[in-house]
Amino acid sequence: MATPPVPDHVPPEMVSDFSVFTSAGMAPTPNGDPHAAVACVHSGPPIFYSRSNTRDGRGAWVITRASDQRRVLQDAETFSSNRRIFASALGEDLPMVPLELDPPAHGVFRSLLNPLLSPKRVKELEPAVRERASALIDRIAASGKSCDVMKDFAFPFTVNIFLRFLGLPDDRLDTFAGWAKDLLHGDDVRRPAAAKTILAFIDELAAMRRKEPADDFMTFIVQAKVEGRWLTDQEVRGIGVLVFIAGLDTVAAAIGFDLAYLARNLKDQQLLRSEPDRIGLATEELLRAYPTIQLIRVATKDIDFEGAPIRKGDYVSCATMIANRDPAEFECPNTVDLGREDNRHAAFGYGPHRCLGSHLARREIVIGLEEWLARIPQFRIKKGTAPITSGGHVFGIENLILDWF
Ligand code: HEM
Repeated sequence: MATPPVPDHVPPEMVSDFSVFTSAGMAPTPNGDPHAAVACVHSGPPIFYSRSNTRDGRGAWVITRASDQRRVLQDAETFSSNRRIFASALGEDLPMVPLELDPPAHGVFRSLLNPLLSPKRVKELEPAVRERASALIDRIAASGKSCDVMKDFAFPFTVNIFLRFLGLPDDRLDTFAGWAKDLLHGDDVRRPAAAKTILAFIDELAAMRRKEPADDFMTFIVQAKVEGRWLTDQEVRGIGVLVFIAGLDTVAAAIGFDLAYLARNLKDQQLLRSEPDRIGLATEELLRAYPTIQLIRVATKDIDFEGAPIRKGDYVSCATMIANRDPAEFECPNTVDLGREDNRHAAFGYGPHRCLGSHLARREIVIGLEEWLARIPQFRIKKGTAPITSGGHVFGIENLILDWF
């Protein structure tokens, strides 16, 4: 894809070839470290213009300081979330709800959805989460001394919890994982095809629950009212699609990056194995060091920001992987310190759109690590193999082969 010209209002000295999107390696890379690849920007200016920073090849202003990112993400009036990421793959005007809505409409839907993923609701899901994790890991332990963590544990685990949340049986587990992978990491052919398939699935599920209500997420959505009216079909689709995208790949990637770290750092692995009470705090540090999402906002008006002439319509990038390695925010940001306190990391975003699923995500990761460490003896990356990671808007880990004795 040809890189569009840099807009005239951008001073040439503020333009950089660095791109959050491509500098970390878009293509799956063996033994890659996409987080280190983007953590190099802090010695430079607080904001610069990246020529090609998004999937559609558009440039964006990249904010490098965590405190400045918070200013942007807090100010939805100036920096809008109205972007249509999913719609771009689909060629249809479909906002993901509530992610691509701005206040006040955002607040209406956020209030509707908050109770579904509240700490209380997550607590109710916990026994099922633990049961699923332990069953999968028992199967791995029984079948030998090596596995591909992503294929055998991280994806089936997170997809299974997601299906349970939607109120669906497990029999389409592999299909779902494949759709999510194609949508988030696929090429220009697979991505739109996956988007269409996911949408058709959401429509089918909504129609089913309208006819035969059950005690699940989709029934709640099709029966919900906002401001005294039922949700429109597009709103139901927008919510369904977002939950599909938001909840699947993100947690699996977090578990993959965490286990890759522990496989390479045996002292830390031993520490968590012998003192499992530390896993909660350690999970926060691993979320800080290995976050996966680049947030993009669109300027709604002209504004000068830290010396940069941002103009209406410009894209502004707040990459969590950049905020979380900011030395002004974190001491020794490139060192993983599993005991780090006061960890104000940005993995779940900031401001009105802060992740709605963060309670569930945290519990899935903590429980996944607890059950893994309780069942699998000291593990390493299998000799002759290399974890395959990818950059892009959503960083991912595709395969992680571990073994143990
Ligand atoms: C480790 C796992 C996860 C990470 C790193 C993560 C990260 C994020 C981030 C950074 C945002 C903010 C996006 C923005 O401001 O543009 C977000 C929003 C969101 N996330 Fe998550 N997420 C995770 C898991 C989940 C799960 C498990 C669910 C649901 C089942 C979920 C549902 C959502 C929803 C609905 C939003 C939109 C909130 C809004 O617009 O108000 N996420 N997530």
